[in-house]
Amino acid sequence: MKPTTFNTEAFDEWIRSRFVELNSELELRYYQQSDRANVLDIGTDIKLALETEGRDLIKILLDEGNTDEGFDSAFDLLGNVGLYMAACRRHDITEPSRETTSPLIEASALAMHIGASIGVTPRFATAHLTTHNRAHNGIYKRFTDLPDEKLFVDYNTKGILAYKRAADALLKIQPLGISHPISHDLLRVAKQALLDVIESNSQLFHRLDADRFFYCVRPYYKPYRVGSVIYRGANAGDFAGINVIDLTLGLCFANEASYSQMLVDKFLYMMPEDQQILRECMRRPNLMDDFLQAKDSSSQAWYQENLSLFIEVCELHGETAIQHHNELVIKYIAEPATTMEQQHLAKVTASGPPLQMLLDALERLRDRRAAAKRSDIRTRYYDLNHLKNSLRSRDV
Ligand code: HEM
Repeated sequence: MKPTTFNTEAFDEWIRSRFVELNSELELRYYQQSDRANVLDIGTDIKLALETEGRDLIKILLDEGNTDEGFDSAFDLLGNVGLYMAACRRHDITEPSRETTSPLIEASALAMHIGASIGVTPRFATAHLTTHNRAHNGIYKRFTDLPDEKLFVDYNTKGILAYKRAADALLKIQPLGISHPISHDLLRVAKQALLDVIESNSQLFHRLDADRFFYCVRPYYKPYRVGSVIYRGANAGDFAGINVIDLTLGLCFANEASYSQMLVDKFLYMMPEDQQILRECMRRPNLMDDFLQAKDSSSQAWYQENLSLFIEVCELHGETAIQHHNELVIKYIAEPATTMEQQHLAKVTASGPPLQMLLDALERLRDRRAAAKRSDIRTRYYDLNHLKNSLRSRDV
């Protein structure tokens, strides 16, 4: 990585220190109220300090112009501008339905310049906080010093990296083919990685405090405007791996409108290398079809061994999706929303749509991944049962 400029470093230092102090102080004050979702007329002096100190640092960087320090530095700087803009949204310094264009003029200009030049959305994305968040002396960038925020980001990072390990292994099967002996090894790697996702999700579910998450962490992930456009919030799904698994296993279909709509919407929220991987994956055949077409070989040892492991991998992928929906989404989003004051409800989700619509969409995703029996959407329920029946010794 090339060295960064003095001004970029000064802004990074501010994000890692003073910015965290200001956000943490505001969280403390909001959380003491009986309506913990209220931010109006609380800590006005702190909000002003946050806005003006950030603006001054960003203005210098904007005036400096393109210093061409390479992708990594540009992406990192975009993340810092994005964290600042997301915090301003969280504290209601900006509010997209109140404005037609972001009042953070300098931050918007810098974010759009960088985003367009490196081929990503001009806001902070999940990668900025998780997989591409450099730690200094053991501490990586965060909004606040709250232990619940750290816990959430730690387990998002663990989950994402484990999904990526599974995706990498599955992608390597394609050129080898389903009958290759080494495809068995790769399926084992994918299986272990999905078990890691399950373990990590389970830890998160048991350790993260629901109120703290809902009131003090989640609000930093709201949509905000950059220039005149509203960009949806970041979520842990903004990496290619999860969809690579969906498509490579054959549980989801790139030519099904509601699924491909999600892919189209998330491309620019991913790192450019992830965008490339997902594009390629969308053009390839899937392993489930390969197994269905190989039924004449069902008496072969390779078929029995590899199919049995393939089915386990599909089931584990379904299990991670069930866990995400039935545990994480319900406990940390749907349930707290039922006790929230009505006036705040419209702004609960990161992507913007009403909560029930979001929950329905996530439920459909869960059922596709779990190959559940549904008549309203295409799932692999029958195909998977068909394959299970071709195994010699398996309880189905
Ligand atoms: C407290 C924990 C979590 C909660 C409450 C949560 C909630 C959500 C919600 C509500 C969405 C929809 C995005 C939106 O608001 O528009 C979403 C998307 C997503 N989340 Fe999580 N999430 C959590 C943790 C995780 C973790 C640890 C992972 C693992 C990598 C993960 C993976 C995903 C994925 C892949 C998506 C995109 C939709 C999909 O493909 O399923 N989430 N999450």
